[in-house]
Amino acid sequence: MHKIPPNRIRKIRTWVPGNHSTELISYNSSYQNKSLPLLDLASNDYLGLSKHPNLIEAAYKTMHCEGVGAGGSRLITGSRPIHRSLEETLGDWLQRDHVLLFPSGFQANLAGVIALTNRHTPVLVDRLIHHSLLMGVKASGAKLQRYSHNNLDELKKYLKICRKKHPQHPPLVITESLFSMEGTSPNLKCLAEICAEYGARLFIDEAHALGVLGKEGRGLCYQLNSPITMISGTFGKAFGSGGAFLASNKEIGEHLIQTSGAFRYTTALAPPLCAAALEALNLIKTHPSWHLELQETAATWRQKLTRQGWQSPHGTGPIIPLLIGSDQAALDTQKKLEQQGLLTIAIRPPTVPEGSSRLRLVVRRNLPENTLKKLLTALGDQ
Ligand SMILES: Cc1ncc(COP(=O)(O)O)c(C=O)c1O
Repeated sequence: MHKIPPNRIRKIRTWVPGNHSTELISYNSSYQNKSLPLLDLASNDYLGLSKHPNLIEAAYKTMHCEGVGAGGSRLITGSRPIHRSLEETLGDWLQRDHVLLFPSGFQANLAGVIALTNRHTPVLVDRLIHHSLLMGVKASGAKLQRYSHNNLDELKKYLKICRKKHPQHPPLVITESLFSMEGTSPNLKCLAEICAEYGARLFIDEAHALGVLGKEGRGLCYQLNSPITMISGTFGKAFGSGGAFLASNKEIGEHLIQTSGAFRYTTALAPPLCAAALEALNLIKTHPSWHLELQETAATWRQKLTRQGWQSPHGTGPIIPLLIGSDQAALDTQKKLEQQGLLTIAIRPPTVPEGSSRLRLVVRRNLPENTLKKLLTALGDQ
């Protein structure tokens, strides 16, 4: 095992739920040695659904009838009607022919990339894609080329080279529709058109966009005219549950069922999580203004933070990266906010590039009215 530099060592901190309010959690502060209620400005529960009574009831009912875990993999004894229901409902919602559930987004991404590549495939990825996608490329032994974040000219340049060098191997392009640490999105329409022009397949991770961006919260791939080979999504973020899926055409979906180790050799997604995800989807469908309200709030936060002298946070959605720079300065700011009752997390290398440590602020739907004011006061001027 290689030695980890001291500044890269991370400790697992445990966040103890204090009361039943949707936005507060209490945390046993390590430096103050006492329990302090904190307002959560860091988790990915964008729509505040993880504690929604409908999700809790759906999960409880299913758990009561079917037990906590599935008890087997999907091809042995683990498949339940609730799995099929969720797959079909999602397929309809996203207008995709085939949806396959996985126990986590990490697994889904691994499975998806492996299914679309072999060691001859040129794979072009945005420099900032999620670790799980990179692990998929590594596992398949494909040829990896990174392009600068959201830089479509550079992508085009590499595609041209690839097509010339390996005309018999169609490239795969991988990106995210909402980058988890940047809050940014690529111009997906252009990107998909470029892929179509060069005969490249396209894999989009919609983990952070689903429920939050695009028409009725259906993500940014919804109703794009150019083809998208595969979409991955997770229920662990806006859906307030757990588990994930891959959406594709029927042929690729069937190929995954027959060949993907990450699908076949793992216990099926727990039925109560499935039931909660299905209920979340139902709520998202019946509350088409939620994602718009969230975007509006996020726009106000960006505007006010910029006005207070902070570097204008990129992007448009609920992820607001407050760039700070050094690791220590980011940790100090996290601590300062924590002392004011606000829970934010300093994100440091290797998760983000050196010198770009930041606080990853997350706007959630059910935050109290005065949250932004409290945050601006606690942060002070930059
Ligand atoms: C962009 C992205 N993709 C995939 C994942 C993995 O999803 P899950 O938490 O369901 O494993 C995450 C979560 O960290 C993510 O941020």
